[in-house]
Amino acid sequence: MTTTQPKPTTTDAGIPVASDEFSLTVGPDGPILLQDHYLMETMANFNREMIPDRQPHAKGFGAYGYFEVTDDLSAYTRAAVFQPGTRTDTAIRFSTVAGERGSPDTWRDPRGFALKFYTSEGNLDIVGNNTPVFFVRDPLKFENFIRSQKRRVDTGLRDNDMQWDFWTLVPESAHQVTWLMGDRGIPRTWRNMNGYSSHTYSWINAAGEIFWVKYHFISDQGIEFLTQAEADELAGKDADYHQRDLINAIKRGDYPSWTLKVQIMPFEAAKTYRFNPFDLTKVWPHSDYPLHEVGKLVLDRNVSDAHAEMEQFAVEPNNHVPGTGLSPDRMLLGRSFSYADAHRARLGVNYKQIPVNAPKSEVHSYSKNGVMRIHNATDPVYAPNSKGGPQADPSLTGEPLWAVDGEMVRSAYTLRRDDDDWGQAGTLVREVLDDAARERLVSNIVGHLLNGVSEPVLQRAFEYWSNVDTDLGARRAVHRRGGRAVHLQPRRGLRGHVGPGRTAAPGCRGSIGRAWAARCRRGRADGPRPSRRRGGRAPVLGRVRAGFDGCR
Ligand code: HEM
Repeated sequence: MTTTQPKPTTTDAGIPVASDEFSLTVGPDGPILLQDHYLMETMANFNREMIPDRQPHAKGFGAYGYFEVTDDLSAYTRAAVFQPGTRTDTAIRFSTVAGERGSPDTWRDPRGFALKFYTSEGNLDIVGNNTPVFFVRDPLKFENFIRSQKRRVDTGLRDNDMQWDFWTLVPESAHQVTWLMGDRGIPRTWRNMNGYSSHTYSWINAAGEIFWVKYHFISDQGIEFLTQAEADELAGKDADYHQRDLINAIKRGDYPSWTLKVQIMPFEAAKTYRFNPFDLTKVWPHSDYPLHEVGKLVLDRNVSDAHAEMEQFAVEPNNHVPGTGLSPDRMLLGRSFSYADAHRARLGVNYKQIPVNAPKSEVHSYSKNGVMRIHNATDPVYAPNSKGGPQADPSLTGEPLWAVDGEMVRSAYTLRRDDDDWGQAGTLVREVLDDAARERLVSNIVGHLLNGVSEPVLQRAFEYWSNVDTDLGARRAVHRRGGRAVHLQPRRGLRGHVGPGRTAAPGCRGSIGRAWAARCRRGRADGPRPSRRRGGRAPVLGRVRAGFDGCR
């Protein structure tokens, strides 16, 4: 029989300690002595165990894995990580956006999909969500948006009224809110959702040609969702449901995987594309730009220290390796500042020396000193120098650079032919969702609106959904007005400017059955609804053509 002798307890300085149970006192009943350094260290360290939450995306978890390239897209990028056959270590963190650490995994929210590739040319971070679009298209709106989703100042409570107040005043949110209120708003597990870069990024090939790309990590497990009722129940039973599922799947060897596909747009085509290709509230229809397979992401290793490897995990959309880069998307450019700044504030300036963040390629930077430096810096600490220090080599950088010109302005993006705030959201509702999914969307929206949304926000919410899809809007209105069909006159037009009044088509009025309305009056949005009319929608500028398939 073998017995394992436990290792002796030590202080953090490695000194053996006298007891795991008793502090040093004057006699068994006397006072504690200050020189019991082990007791002091234990108390002091405990008081400092917590670090600030991420703001936002505080609740989340992830794992390690690898990415293996299966196809040859070397014509579009010179990045070593995307060359055929290359295998690269990765780490990923999934998250919700608005909840704090400890909040339920199953609250309705977009899910973060934050991926770090430890490539031979430095770290590549793709920090996306499980939705291909976002709520706003200018970084100046981001912090305001996040505040509207979090807690009120007065009560410290989250508040649907605040959420809808923001959304309805910012029509560009419509596409993402449609995703959020639909099935993708509560994935069954993190394994059952896709990850999207959402933004347009750039690739550059060996010949120096630039391409615009969107990354799509398609779940090999398939897309599955939780109903609102299932999610509500799980939120009470197991707040860490998604985290537990991921850890257990990896433990039992059921490694989740995603197939990376990219949409590729030639550099010149972006100038005249019918949608602004850098507008984060828009997708590129797959019929315009099909998906090209790149490789497979597999998660096969759990972390062993949740704090060291997940709380201290720091991704930043500015981390691009040669052959990959940013784009003129102003949200992405805003993010390229924000994340590193957040990490410096939360983890300290040397956060890239924390093992989970450290590149596996060599670092030859001129950074020195700062709080919690682990690796010694070496002289010389300035450039240029004649002392043998590192020298920049532009031939290695493969940086996509493009020309811009113009006066300084504060303005919305220039509209393209098919750009508007409602079109792609409406197409998602009418052409991508099936009847059952549309029904759940209606139910989720009504449930959300019933939970604390007041006038005039409520009225604006009806108009908002009328602009997305008149039938949806009409159903909201009936719901609110106690079963009487209300003639909606959406007033908010393109980008929130006051546009010409639009009237729901007459066929839409009264298209809601009394049973549905009665359920709504009772405050229940569940259950089958009576038949609904399609096609009675308001005319919208730049309506997307039939055959649109880009929302999947
Ligand atoms: C201007 C727009 C945005 C700003 C300023 C911003 C800022 C931030 C900040 C400060 C954090 C916390 C970082 C940390 O402390 O580790 C964060 C987390 C995150 N953001 Fe954003 N964000 C923006 C838009 C987006 C968009 C459009 C996406 C997805 C397409 C996204 C996905 C994420 C994810 C996944 C995380 C969690 C990262 C992790 O798991 O460590 N964000 N964001």
